[in-house]
Amino acid sequence: MHEGEFSPPTVAWAGDAVEIIDQTLLPGTLRVVRLDTVDRVVDAIRRLAVRGAPAIGGAGALGMVVGLDEQRPASTDEARAALARLADRIGGARPTAVNLRWAVDRVRAAASGERTAEAIREQALAEALRIVDEDREACRRIGEHGRAELSGATTILTHCNTGRLATLGWGTALGVVYAKAAAGEPVRVYACEARPLLQGARLTAWELLQAGIDVTLIADSAAASLLHTGRIDAVILGADRIAANGDTANKVGTFSLALAAKHAGVRFYTAAPTSTFDLATPSGDAIEIELRSADEVLTFQGQPSAPPGVAAWNPAFDVTPHDLITGWITELGVLHPPFVEVERAARAATRD
Ligand code: MRU
Repeated sequence: MHEGEFSPPTVAWAGDAVEIIDQTLLPGTLRVVRLDTVDRVVDAIRRLAVRGAPAIGGAGALGMVVGLDEQRPASTDEARAALARLADRIGGARPTAVNLRWAVDRVRAAASGERTAEAIREQALAEALRIVDEDREACRRIGEHGRAELSGATTILTHCNTGRLATLGWGTALGVVYAKAAAGEPVRVYACEARPLLQGARLTAWELLQAGIDVTLIADSAAASLLHTGRIDAVILGADRIAANGDTANKVGTFSLALAAKHAGVRFYTAAPTSTFDLATPSGDAIEIELRSADEVLTFQGQPSAPPGVAAWNPAFDVTPHDLITGWITELGVLHPPFVEVERAARAATRD
């Protein structure tokens, strides 16, 4: 097993468009779709055709180049203005995962200083491709650091999808699982289904089966009792935004898992690249949580799952307070409390 082995890639540059695996069609259909307009890039991010914090960062960064090609700015000033508009539009497609805003701002900052519209386009593409490459390498390192931290842990509980479909490499939390498997260590995964959009059932189960890794699916509500049985060695999850004090936003249901893990005395890790740290946000209270359509809760497989007229509340994420987290597995190593250390390491990495 190798981190570059996954084909087709989740996000790729096709010369004149972004190509993504349309994750809304999985596990039934594996289809690559072309995003050759900014409207298509934004729509794909919003409807979760491409999803997972690092993957939407990569798609958004490449989407900046799609936007420049579409708008064909005639002068340097026009190209700079286009970059600013595109960063606002694409960066606002989903609010919680900071990787998206971070990636489009990085492309804008890298390209804006160039002296011609052509050079701006060239530099924007080079920076977007760097973001893709860096995330692949960050995933590899996260896997290795996680493997060292969790040697001897064979049975892992996870939530949502944090693997090859969610990143530009082999994943974050699932990267740890892949690193263990690549090293020939025994590893098995319990995956929560992740209602309402079933990223665990549709995506994590699919990609782990493809990789030949032992995976057992559970309903989200079965996690606390599974933890209580003592069969889980560690919980490892991804992150969408980590505030300066370590509070961590991730797929809704993560907070409940952290509480259940604490009660059961099971170690609880977040695995994320430093691009997921948002040091401008002091604590989890200030993290914007994406609210999605009630229809996602009120339907199941396209059929109504509730009586007409009932209300639904559908936050896509929740925030786990830092004191429930054993450690943050990053490409720099595993950060442990106290949180001043977390912040210092993240600041050094992001040169904030
Ligand atoms: O709504 P999604 O599917 O984009 O949510 C994804 C998650 O919550 C992941 O855990 C997170 O983005 C980390 S992916 C490495």
